[in-house]
Amino acid sequence: MTKENQKLWGGRFEAGLEKWVEEFGASISFDQKMAEFDLKGSIAHVTMLGATGIISQEEADQIKSGLEELLEEYHAGAIEFDVSNEDIHMNMESLLTAKIGPVAGKLHTARSRNDQVATDMHLYLKAKLDEVITKLANLRSSLVTLADKHTYTIMPGYTHLQHAQPISFGHHLMAYYNMFTRDSERFEFNIKHADLSPLGAAALAGTTFPIDRQLTSDLMGFAQPYSNSLDAVSDRDFILEFLSNSAILMMHMSRICEEIINWCSNEFKFVTLSDTFSTGSSIMPQKKNPDMAELIRGKSGRVYGNLFGLLTVMKSLPLAYNKDLQEDKEGMFDTAETITVAIDILAGMLNTMTVNDKHMAESTEKDFSNATELADYLAAKGLPFRQAHEIVGKLVLDCTKKGIYLQDVALSDYQAISDLIEEDIYVTLQSKTAVERRNSLGGTGFDQVKWQIEQAKATLPSLD
Ligand code: ARG
Repeated sequence: MTKENQKLWGGRFEAGLEKWVEEFGASISFDQKMAEFDLKGSIAHVTMLGATGIISQEEADQIKSGLEELLEEYHAGAIEFDVSNEDIHMNMESLLTAKIGPVAGKLHTARSRNDQVATDMHLYLKAKLDEVITKLANLRSSLVTLADKHTYTIMPGYTHLQHAQPISFGHHLMAYYNMFTRDSERFEFNIKHADLSPLGAAALAGTTFPIDRQLTSDLMGFAQPYSNSLDAVSDRDFILEFLSNSAILMMHMSRICEEIINWCSNEFKFVTLSDTFSTGSSIMPQKKNPDMAELIRGKSGRVYGNLFGLLTVMKSLPLAYNKDLQEDKEGMFDTAETITVAIDILAGMLNTMTVNDKHMAESTEKDFSNATELADYLAAKGLPFRQAHEIVGKLVLDCTKKGIYLQDVALSDYQAISDLIEEDIYVTLQSKTAVERRNSLGGTGFDQVKWQIEQAKATLPSLD
């Protein structure tokens, strides 16, 4: 190995790495996604080195303008990375050296790749968290808009995937709104732990140079520096939280996607997806498949996998930096890229699908989802609920045998069962009445749904 092609860390080595070994250790193929943040972190660091007099102001300015040029070149797509420079940090340093000469070597004063990589990841994730929260607000708005439109649309509510009681479709959608709101709150909280600056922790123990960690933290827009240098370089909780929050989000998305898949099947026919979010079959000409919903459901697998991948990497890892930590990135990037697209796809599907509201409502007319209404009717007139339940259960069995529904039973037959039953039973048994009267707080009653929507609109100001 000649001095010319030596690594930035090559001083104590007599022999170089073989190419395939070098490739095994390299991360540039994926950590280049943090290029912009690496440069921004370096700009903050060199600004601080100049301000504290650790290097001269002239040297700092020279390095800073070199870094700014690199940032422009990066944005213009004019930068090529080299695997022999291992990672984004050493690639940038060697590009800087090629640009401004040996003074570039002063940039790494009082810094290590260990605090540098952690800084890059905090910056990357902070930006992603903002993006995810914004996208979630958009998805939540789509749900509220649809719920607003379908407050009075009646659908079967299910338990065990069996018709249970009629509900408002708007109510069903608002349940998902609540889930995505909690997701958003979890990502908001995630910001707290991503918003710390590790820069200045150096390799693990801090530095002998009179650095100003508050200054770099402020320059990069962090809330504050980490207070313990060992923690700063080895903490990946902020990523684990992101992966875990993302796993819960994907679980929620997989649930609504599963419902959409059911709803657009021939058995349900509750919704029709727009052509722009459906695909066909290469053999069956009639097919219109909900591929995008299926894919979101399927991609929950990789997002869960990324969480378990990193939890396993972190398990038993001694302080402080270990190269194992390089395995923290691909799962994070993959999860961030997966969830940001999945949120948009789901919102797009909801915004463009047709709700077959008549058919939805009709499917509550040919079932026994009004059985609770009859039992409640009797209980409200003083019959113990258990007894009412028993009477209605027997009547349902009888109707099933006759092939009729509760609304088809003649008043005389009702009165033979109980003299508490009067003509108003038929209105009581209607799905609309059943929904309307479930006015307990948070119930499916139209007024309750409207109240939920009003509250949601107040927290999503873009909707008003
Ligand atoms: N590429 C490395 C990573 O992603 C950067 C830190 C390397 N530090 C070290 N001491 N080898 O973790």
